[in-house]
Amino acid sequence: TMGLEEAMKALRQGRLVMIYDGDNREAEVDFVMRADAVSAETVRWLRENAGGLLCFVTTREIGISLGLEFLSRYYGMRGFSTKAPYGDEPAFMGYVNHVKTKTGVRDADKALTVKELAKVVDVALRDPEEARELFRMSFYLPGHVPVLGGRIGERWGHTELSLILARAAGVPPALVIIEALGRHTEAMPIHEAKTMAEILGIPLVTGEEIKALA
Ligand code: 5RP
Ligand code: CA
Ligand code: ZN
Repeated sequence: TMGLEEAMKALRQGRLVMIYDGDNREAEVDFVMRADAVSAETVRWLRENAGGLLCFVTTREIGISLGLEFLSRYYGMRGFSTKAPYGDEPAFMGYVNHVKTKTGVRDADKALTVKELAKVVDVALRDPEEARELFRMSFYLPGHVPVLGGRIGERWGHTELSLILARAAGVPPALVIIEALGRHTEAMPIHEAKTMAEILGIPLVTGEEIKALA
């Protein structure tokens, strides 16, 4: 569809895209952007206008090649419940900060962390061992940026949907996602997200549309 083409183009160009996962899942809209295009100002804008949890998305395979593991495994082995109410295992594989951040929570810090993570993914795509080394040298855990690992084909969260869109767009699996909450105490209503998308010229696509690309 036109929407998907626009979304892939925006993603390639380092602009924001919005993804609605679906009525039967979280029923939330996330903003998505390639991590190498994120600046401190982008993070501030997303904090003020999106307001959700800013996460770094890559594939499960890359996460594992960096030495990470799903946190649900860690907690599951300790007898904790690890499933979200809608049935999915969370995608969290760890919380990281780049070593050159001040505290990790600031917009400039998060921008640095996700940009450097994108570089690590870049290296991982051609040399996993070198990437693992670089990751260990340049990040510490626990930090303030969650790393999400996508399980493409097994799960259909924003994590996977953003990766499928990126793959189709020829964008590397190194993205930033954050939920649209806005000035609400619940998720931003879909009609408001649509208005926002229109006003700002941000392509908004649905999980159903993206599934056609998988
Ligand atoms: C991290 C989350 C969000 O829901 C995010 O959209 C990624 O998770 P999922 O793939 O489950 O949608 O839990 O803030
Ligand atoms: Ca979630
Ligand atoms: Zn989500």
